[in-house]
Amino acid sequence: MLTRRRAISSLAMPALLSSKEKAKSKAFHYAEVEAKIARKDYKGITKDDLPTPSLVIDKSILERNLNFMAKHCQNTGIAIRAHCKIHKSVDLARRQVALGSLGISCATIAEAELMSGAGIRNILHTCQPAGKNKIWRAADLAKKDPTALFVADDPTTVELLDEAAGVLGARIRTLVDIHAGLTRHGHAAGKPGLALAQKVASSKNLQFSGIMGYSGAASHTKGWQERRAHSMKDVGPVVETARLCQKSGLDAAIITGGSTGTYNIDKEIGLTELQAGSYVFMDSAYNHIGKKSGDTRYDDFATSLHVLTTVISRNHPNQVTIDAGNKAMLKPTDQVAGRPEVKVENQGAEFGILRWQDGNGFTLGEKVELITTNLDTTTNCYDRYYVCEGNNLVDVWPIMGRSGALQR
Ligand SMILES: Cc1ncc(COP(=O)(O)O)c(C=O)c1O
Repeated sequence: MLTRRRAISSLAMPALLSSKEKAKSKAFHYAEVEAKIARKDYKGITKDDLPTPSLVIDKSILERNLNFMAKHCQNTGIAIRAHCKIHKSVDLARRQVALGSLGISCATIAEAELMSGAGIRNILHTCQPAGKNKIWRAADLAKKDPTALFVADDPTTVELLDEAAGVLGARIRTLVDIHAGLTRHGHAAGKPGLALAQKVASSKNLQFSGIMGYSGAASHTKGWQERRAHSMKDVGPVVETARLCQKSGLDAAIITGGSTGTYNIDKEIGLTELQAGSYVFMDSAYNHIGKKSGDTRYDDFATSLHVLTTVISRNHPNQVTIDAGNKAMLKPTDQVAGRPEVKVENQGAEFGILRWQDGNGFTLGEKVELITTNLDTTTNCYDRYYVCEGNNLVDVWPIMGRSGALQR
């Protein structure tokens, strides 16, 4: 407890300081903030202390998103193997698994290695490995972690995976990736898909484990009814191929695909599990695809991730400069959180401009939070998430490293 005497002496203290000492007492010690973060001692650190541009997570919104999806899956009986391409964070993946995610879906072999290396089982690499480097890394990963799942959309991949697995003494759980509207990947549905599944099933060192089909176009179709129709068209043939496999005696237990946009459509189409990922953070591309009730806003999940920037110049009317540009993946379609009337412009590598017609401007040094247009590319630019409750830092989570030979 502060006694009256001590209170007076502490209040009186500044008067006893020399002007140099007074100036020094106001100094901001960034190194101390870093040292506190290293000790996981976040007390007293606020957004104002953080470097910019940087990524800040609103913890309570993130938790709401995580819980909402987990509840949806429990209530409807569809499983989830959440996609980590959006966050590339072991901390977040562990939270998803704790809430019932079967494992974690990964876009790259490096993500798969990271998640498996962190002890997460039943990961699914949703892109077929191709080329010497990726084939052998996939086989090596399967050897270390026999629960890992891989996909193939080409007979050559099946042969190469089988060969590599044979050499390493691995058995690779393999799904067949079926075309679902996106021409970037996927073997033809129906009989050709069945033939590829049979090839996997008859490969000595592979274990046929099911079917995958992902429609990125359906996921962002505006209007829930339109999205449902698009999903039926794209993903229907994927499910039919899985049924063909089952009728032929193949164990196509897993039928995986789906997204944040179609999470409440995919079960009806026949998927057994979701690969949704963006629901954890939500970007501006997703915020306006429309919800089941017919509303144009899609607020089943809310934006929990912002890019924190600082106003660094203000010499012209109705505009200020912020310290985020190309290197921070700034896009003119990004939005200022809480200020929808403000336009975002890209001004090169390090700079962005905020413009507005009427209303309040921004002060020099002010922190401005942006809602990103596309999460995956933005998170790929940063090394850590600053997890905040309101204005206060409560945790820091590393993002998968981007340097080093194995990080791709
Ligand atoms: C193969 C695959 N599955 C799932 C997802 C996750 O989709 P979303 O982030 O829309 O939930 C993606 C996203 O690009 C993907 O490429």
